[in-house]
Amino acid sequence: MEPRKHEQPPQRSYWMESAPPEGGHPALDEDLIVDVAVVGAGIAGISTAWELARRGRRVALLEADRVAAGVTGHTTAKVTALHTLIYDRLRRTRGAEAAALYARSQSEAIRHAAALVDELGIACDWEDATAYTYAEDKGRVEELRAEAEAAREAGLPAAFVTETGLPFPVAGAVRVEGQAQFHPRKYLLALVGDLVRQGASVHEGTRVVRLKEGTPCRLTTEAGFTVTAKDVVVATHHPVFDRALLFTRLSPRRELVLAAPAPADTDPHGMYLTPERRTRSVRTAPYGDGRRLLIVTGEHFTPGSTDVEERFGLLADWAVERFGPLGFTHRWATQDNDSTDSVPLVGPFHAGSRHTWVATGFGGWGMSGGIMAGRLLAEQITGHKEPWSDLYDPRRVLSAVREAPSFLKHQAQVARHFVGDRIGSGAGDASVEAIAPGDGAVVRLHGQHCAVHRDEDGSLHAVSARCTHLGCLVGFNRAERTWECPCHGSRFDVEGRIVQGPATKRLERRDI
Ligand code: FES
Repeated sequence: MEPRKHEQPPQRSYWMESAPPEGGHPALDEDLIVDVAVVGAGIAGISTAWELARRGRRVALLEADRVAAGVTGHTTAKVTALHTLIYDRLRRTRGAEAAALYARSQSEAIRHAAALVDELGIACDWEDATAYTYAEDKGRVEELRAEAEAAREAGLPAAFVTETGLPFPVAGAVRVEGQAQFHPRKYLLALVGDLVRQGASVHEGTRVVRLKEGTPCRLTTEAGFTVTAKDVVVATHHPVFDRALLFTRLSPRRELVLAAPAPADTDPHGMYLTPERRTRSVRTAPYGDGRRLLIVTGEHFTPGSTDVEERFGLLADWAVERFGPLGFTHRWATQDNDSTDSVPLVGPFHAGSRHTWVATGFGGWGMSGGIMAGRLLAEQITGHKEPWSDLYDPRRVLSAVREAPSFLKHQAQVARHFVGDRIGSGAGDASVEAIAPGDGAVVRLHGQHCAVHRDEDGSLHAVSARCTHLGCLVGFNRAERTWECPCHGSRFDVEGRIVQGPATKRLERRDI
């Protein structure tokens, strides 16, 4: 179906706009020795650094860009232990005890964050909220009933219901009360402020390009400075260093977000998600003047898809059909890494690692997952164990039953972009002349794949089309003006600069 036209707002995240980066933290310009170095200042990295500082460790937090401005600055910020349909899946694949540990670990993370908001007096629009997984299709009711039962069995206050606060009927829903939503950047910027007050070193604009494991470990930055640390945590969303080949167990996914102010009396009072229609999610946030900001999310796609504008149109159609006329003010996109068994990978980096740690694979649930990861890693690094350490252990054995289908699907996709692109899949058949202003395409020039963008003035910008991570071909996202890698989700601007890893090197310029 062709999406109807609704006026699309500029590309900007409400979280970034309403809590812009201020002041800033200096780039690292000297060698440093600390107890623990944390690479990546999203919610998982910041939470880990803060928890370790509170436990008396000297910490350095190193961020290639700005703190809480990457994936975390472009999220939907639901803080809930209800993760779509995970409990029934966990019960079937890893057993009832694993499902209970998952529920407990996520619920404790939410309670911990609420306590921190109180203790530190953080003004981050923290609101208690009820979470729902719903379906409009009657054919999915049994799935929802099974999920409600599994979530209840796992210890959550879950119930199957047919009434929600949504302004349209649903066939059924799983309801879990006592969850939360917040402004992620206000929360995290306050945590970083407290981290600095505790004496930690926070450095933005500091890209780490090398990790030498040992006793101690040593990190090297792009500018050539070193950080020596007993322990290193890699919390860069998709790990920038990956000796455990975790990239084979992670698949990247982007999802679109639209936001529109709406009268407060239309607030559906809750956080909603359906796996139908390439997922749809709804929440609101305080907006002032008797209004709430309605935030709708959906239309997930693999990075590098070329139909993102059309997908924004479909999402806008869906929102207007269900909530009435809306004036959209913001739009942005989230990025998630799904692990093959839907459980995050948090703990020792690889089989031989003693002082290197990783946090990744949170799927769409990085808020509660990131807070949980911070506490788990801090406990492990200080020599303790949590009851759920094994559940999240990245070294857990690949199980054919629970992981093989999604593992094989992702590997087939990677192979298509890596091998297929080299043996004549048609990639690169576009011509430079055919690229419209504002668009981009991969073209083959002098035997090389070039990623060519034509700007609104008609000027051409050309870079290598080979992702510098592992060599897959990038695709152009016209809505966000980025080159994106479908294999592991690296993103680059039209000049080839890194927007998002795991790549740590830019795309080289090409002359055309
Ligand atoms: Fe891995 Fe591009 S992100 S090959």
